[in-house]
Amino acid sequence: MKPLDETYEPVVIEDEDDIGSNRSANRPLLELARTRMSRRTALKGFVTTAAVGALGGTLTSRFALAAEGGPSTLGFTPLEQVIKDDHQVAPGYTAKILMRWGDPVLADAPEWAPEEQSGESQAKQFGYNNDYLAFFPLPRGSHSSERGLLHVNFEYTNPELMFPGWSTAVMSTEQAKELTGEDREFSEDELLELTKQHRLEQQTPEQSQIELMAHGGAVIEVRKENGSWTVVPNSQYARRITGDTEMAIAGPAAGHERMKTSYDPDGTKVRGTLNNCAGGKTPWGTVLMAEENFHGYFGGELPADSPEKANFARYSVASGRYPWYRTIDRFDVGKEPNEPNRFGWMVEYDPYDPDSTPTKRTALGRCKHEGATTIVNKDGRLVAYSGDDERFEYLYKYVSNGTFDPAGGAGNGSLLDDGTLYVARFDEDKVNWLPLTFGEGPLTEENGFQSQADVLIETRRAADLLDATPMDRPEDVEPNMVNGRVYVMLTNNSQRKEEQTDAVNPRAENRHGQIVELIPPGGEGPDADHTADQFDWEMFLKAGNPDEEGSGAEYHPETQAWISSPDNCAFDVDGRLWISTDQGSAQRRNNIPDGMYACDISGDGRALLKFFYGAPRDAEMCGPEFTPDGRTLFVAPQHPAEAADSTFENPSTRFPDFADGVPPRPSLVAITKDDGGAIGS
Ligand code: FEO
Ligand code: CA
Ligand code: CA
Repeated sequence: MKPLDETYEPVVIEDEDDIGSNRSANRPLLELARTRMSRRTALKGFVTTAAVGALGGTLTSRFALAAEGGPSTLGFTPLEQVIKDDHQVAPGYTAKILMRWGDPVLADAPEWAPEEQSGESQAKQFGYNNDYLAFFPLPRGSHSSERGLLHVNFEYTNPELMFPGWSTAVMSTEQAKELTGEDREFSEDELLELTKQHRLEQQTPEQSQIELMAHGGAVIEVRKENGSWTVVPNSQYARRITGDTEMAIAGPAAGHERMKTSYDPDGTKVRGTLNNCAGGKTPWGTVLMAEENFHGYFGGELPADSPEKANFARYSVASGRYPWYRTIDRFDVGKEPNEPNRFGWMVEYDPYDPDSTPTKRTALGRCKHEGATTIVNKDGRLVAYSGDDERFEYLYKYVSNGTFDPAGGAGNGSLLDDGTLYVARFDEDKVNWLPLTFGEGPLTEENGFQSQADVLIETRRAADLLDATPMDRPEDVEPNMVNGRVYVMLTNNSQRKEEQTDAVNPRAENRHGQIVELIPPGGEGPDADHTADQFDWEMFLKAGNPDEEGSGAEYHPETQAWISSPDNCAFDVDGRLWISTDQGSAQRRNNIPDGMYACDISGDGRALLKFFYGAPRDAEMCGPEFTPDGRTLFVAPQHPAEAADSTFENPSTRFPDFADGVPPRPSLVAITKDDGGAIGS
């Protein structure tokens, strides 16, 4: 358990949920790491902490010098890394708020009134904690960068910032005595646990409904007029998907016994999608919404003889973080023991059709999916990359059996039902993709798998048996269309021990993460063969403060910024890398803002970071998405003011409204250059 500070943090879901539940013995050899890192550091000429001194000056002074020019192809004047209550963008750019939590999405949505909120109103309004963003040009099939649909994920909720009267402060001994009626001393852990239980018990059924409806996603129509983006009111495309929206289940796990519930005796439909973190777009114009930390929504006790016990333990179900299970039966595993098996999937839907049924595509596996990004391979097969975001979890790749039909529209969705899921095992120079196929290798009846459905429902256990490489929390994994390489954001892993380090996860107590570049064989760009069983890989950068003794941080020697905890990413039209960061509660310790940081991926400016956009205080940066012309960057500052000492009444920032009594609101932001030029120029 993490140390008890002055308060507990029931809402910093990612901090706690990423503790790690991988108990497998998968640990590559330390020896490989040593060989690799010494050689690569020399080859790449990256600066190490020791070498910074040789260059002269600290990061701050290099920033001042480099702001006048340098080897980066990015022309903007970078921001200084200072945390502010408001968001901030590089000079010459405008960051405009397009939507905020509670703003109307559907035509009949009521005005937002945070003290009179209901589940019914929330289901029609912009949800909480906007995360993944995807832009779809209008009309469909066009390449418009001035009119389109934005899909938005809503990942989770912060009740202490949404509801009046909530507090995150740990109760005092006096309060504990009063609550329990026990006249004794209480340990810090006991006080923490009592506080959590008390909060769960205090939440009203209506508040649980509001939270359920604040999850999921939305489609909004946006338009650029006179250089400025606005939301089109009452659009025919406007849509809310919530934690209660009925959706289909497809692929090998559909219809399986372990997927059946009293609501769905066929195992083919499910209510809602939860913890939609990042996602992806398909080449046929649909959205992929990832179900990430699904485990916290379930509570209660599994029946003693349940065969799902080990499965649930591997995913930390049912941790009962949210109190929904107290009033909504399907979240109580004592009442619906199979319901958690229906979460942790990738959800696909067509944003152009407000009546389309979202579908959980089980062939892509079940884990705490950060997202799933796709590419059509040169042979026409679809490849999707996905990370399982938890400490010591794995990296996955899916390859369809069929090929993409450019005229097939949303019908191509069946490509996501029939294919092979692979998990990554890294060695010194290569990454090997190992198939998660029933009947192959250890994935047999002897090990408790009766079918491909079992392999997919227990994706993590299947990957354990294949000796996959436990990673430092894989977040976004995205192919770059320009060079054909794949970029892996590994956000951090403070629990990795020295003896657990390896070539691709080289630092113990890794608080800052790293970015790894996967190199498929076959050539650059469209020649890259993403279906291959083996790729090369390189370390792109190692995050952390290069001026901090022993940080092990590695960037371009003239980097103008440093980052911690890379989370999501996007590529501009020139293929340059735009990184969004999520330090969680460590933002205060690191004393730098989360935001958008950009760099070249090749040439003299490779891994030379520049700070472009800062999210507001205690917010995480989500959702980077460019329009096709590269002249707009949409971003989603998530959970502004999420901190142990922050409440509805007394938040650490009131972004974006900054009005007395108005709580902070996660928001959707459009960034444009004032002269109409490309983002980054
Ligand atoms: Fe929801 Fe992995 O960030
Ligand atoms: Ca994320
Ligand atoms: Ca995150």
